Parts: sequence; structure tokens; C-alpha cells
Amino acid sequence: MACEASLQNNAAILILLALFSHVNSWYFKCENGFCIRNSDPNDKSNYPSLELCSLVCSNFLNVWPQPTGKMASLKNIVRINPNKIEVKLNGPPGTEDFFSDNILYFSKKLKKDEPYKCHEIMYPLKIVLTPKSNNPQLDLNTNESYALELTYEGNAITASISGYSIFGIRHGLETLFQLIIPYEDGNQKCIATLSYVLINDKPVYKHRGLLLDTGRNFLTVSTIKKHLDAMAASKLNVLHWHITDSQSFPLEVERLPNMTKYGAYNEKHIYSVSDVKDLLKYANRRGVRILPEIDGPSHAGNGWQWGKAAGLGDLAVCVNRQPWRSLCIQPPCGQLNPANQNLYCVLEDLYKHMKDHFPDTEMFHMGGDEVFIPCWNSTPE
Ligand SMILES: *[C@@H]1O[C@H](CO)[C@@H](O)[C@H](O)[C@H]1NC(C)=O
Ligand SMILES: *[C@@H]1O[C@H](CO)[C@@H](O)[C@H](O)[C@H]1NC(C)=O
Repeated sequence: MACEASLQNNAAILILLALFSHVNSWYFKCENGFCIRNSDPNDKSNYPSLELCSLVCSNFLNVWPQPTGKMASLKNIVRINPNKIEVKLNGPPGTEDFFSDNILYFSKKLKKDEPYKCHEIMYPLKIVLTPKSNNPQLDLNTNESYALELTYEGNAITASISGYSIFGIRHGLETLFQLIIPYEDGNQKCIATLSYVLINDKPVYKHRGLLLDTGRNFLTVSTIKKHLDAMAASKLNVLHWHITDSQSFPLEVERLPNMTKYGAYNEKHIYSVSDVKDLLKYANRRGVRILPEIDGPSHAGNGWQWGKAAGLGDLAVCVNRQPWRSLCIQPPCGQLNPANQNLYCVLEDLYKHMKDHFPDTEMFHMGGDEVFIPCWNSTPE
């Protein structure tokens, strides 16, 4: 007992020591382009947070991915009045919805750190957006370049973002957001940026993608939206949506209600037609296009078992059969049945659905991997 008690006391002392050693010790100073922690809290060159130090000290390390064109800045901090942010849209008509959604998104992200309480001098921020085109469609050849110029003059900060497409301007807003740093100093909480910034940026690659698999594990619409937000923050532009796999078929197809009836994990794990519409719009607002994939002829099992009962014969074969090792490359097995002519009528309905409900997509992915001939050879067909 005595031993246990003294261990506890020692632990308490250690925790107290750790607490005291933290007080006012997280200050950073800039040395040769690096931010280093400074143990002297009274040093005049201190910054109250690593992020704020890095904004001034490093060459745009806060901006992700690193811009590819010309970059320049002045290393002075100016504080922004979070209640005085104004946006002016200078482009051709038809971009208002896109930008009002993005401005709302942008201000929600800034408000995440509220309440701000800043006693320093703060300046209003005016954001001027100047796209050349109002084309709402994002494709492989969309010009995503942008130029951001941030100036501080006459007691106001102006951020001008110009570029060809609305998607380039959106990237510029994302960059601007990364240059606005919230920080705490004593009992204050402020947001700040630099007094001058110039960034010319365009992507190195046309296709910057992430793949999500909702066939094996269902992801809710709100989870997919969170991924889209993360992609937008990193300026990725293609979500390869691997919608189905042999495990499940979660996509509602109005002409073929049996696909989800037989294929969804349960009645809640279904992407309805309106869910898809919502996701496509949300993705477009975040500068991401969705490239849908319905996998086949392999990786197609659950969702395809209803053919026989409907008088159409086996649409897929080997579905969920064992031993999987001799019927497919990974379980559960399932492969479309190309010897059944009815399959092509069902596929026609399915692909019509894809064409109608993914109208802005220039590409539709038909899967194609891991076809396993021994499965087909195991059937009479
Ligand atoms: C993209 O747009 C910018 C700004 O309008 C322009 O300077 C640039 O030449 C365009 N790039 C291409 C490849 O068209
Ligand atoms: C769905 O499958 C059932 C068999 O379970 C079948 O009787 C019915 O005709 C199918 N529905 C459609 C619309 O194909």
C-alpha cells in the first residue's frame, strides 16, 4: 500500500511539473528561415505560436501544396478584423451561387476558432474575386491557375484573386485561408496575415485524385463530404468513387430496384438518386469532379443474384461461393455472366442510369480488374 501511495504522489508531482513548465514557454523565434522554440518568454522577437512564426519565417510553408509559380511576401504581420471581411465578385454573371457557397464555407472555417478576442489593432479584409470564365463544369482540361495578391494599404487589407476558371479562383481562396493564421497570446485570440503576398500558382498534374471504396465499407454522404473538404484543402480535383464491389451494391438504380434490394448491406446503406445529386453538386463547389465506377465483370456479386427468380437466368455466377480460392482472387466471389444475353439488357439499364445521373462526368469507370477465368469455367455456361 505504502509503495502504491508514493508512486501516486510522484506521478502527481510530475504532472504538476509538466504543467508549470508549459506556462508561457511555447514561444517561437525565426532563425535562418526556421522557427525554433524560445525558452525566454520576454524575447522581443518571439511569436506566440509556431504557425504564426512559420507564416513570417518560412517561405510559404503554410501553403499546401507549395505554389508552383512566382512567390513574394513582406514579413510583417497585420491583424484582420474577423467581423469586417467583405467579398467583391468581379467576374461574368452566373458565378454567384458558386462563390456565395464558397464564401460561406470559407467564413465557416474562419469561425471555427471563435470567439476571437483581440486587443491589437485590426484591419478590415476585402477579398476581390476576378474569374474570366463562368463555365461551371470541371474537366480534365480546366485551367486551374490563379494569382493571389494581398496588399495592406490605407488601413485596409485587400486580397485580389484572379484567374481563368471559377475553380482556379477557389484554389486561390483556399490559399488565402491558409495564409490567415489564428493564434492565442495570453488572453487574446486574433487572426493575422502578412502585409504583402504575391502568389502565382497552377497545378503540376491535371488529375489529382483520391479513391473511395463504398462497396466494401459503406460511407455516409456526410463522411464523403468530409473527404471532399479534405481534398479541397489539398487542391485535389478527382474523387474516383468505387461505388460497388462484390460485397455490396449501395447505389439506387430506379430501373433496377433489385440491385440494392439484393445488394445493399441494409436499407439505410443506399445512395439514393438525390444523395448522388447532392454529392455531385457539393463536389463541384469544392473543385472536385466525381468519377463513378461500377466494377465488372469481376468484383460483381451481391446485388446481382435476382436474375433466376425474375426469369432472367444467372446474371452473375460464383456469387459468395466457396472455396473462394478456386473461384476468385479474393472473397466474396462473384463475376458477371457474359453467356447470358439478358445480362446485356440489365447492363443497358444500369449504364443508362449512370449516363442520366452523372451528367457532368466526362468519364465512367467500368472496373475490369481481377477477372478470374476458373470461375466461368466452373459453370455449365
Ligand atoms: C490559364 O489562365 C491564365 C489566366 O487567365 C492564363 O494566363 C494562362 O495562359 C491559361 N493557361 C492555359 C494553358 O490556357
Ligand atoms: C426483382 O426480383 C424479384 C425476384 O426476387 C422478381 O420477381 C422481380 O421481377 C424483380 N423486379 C424487377 C423490377 O426486375
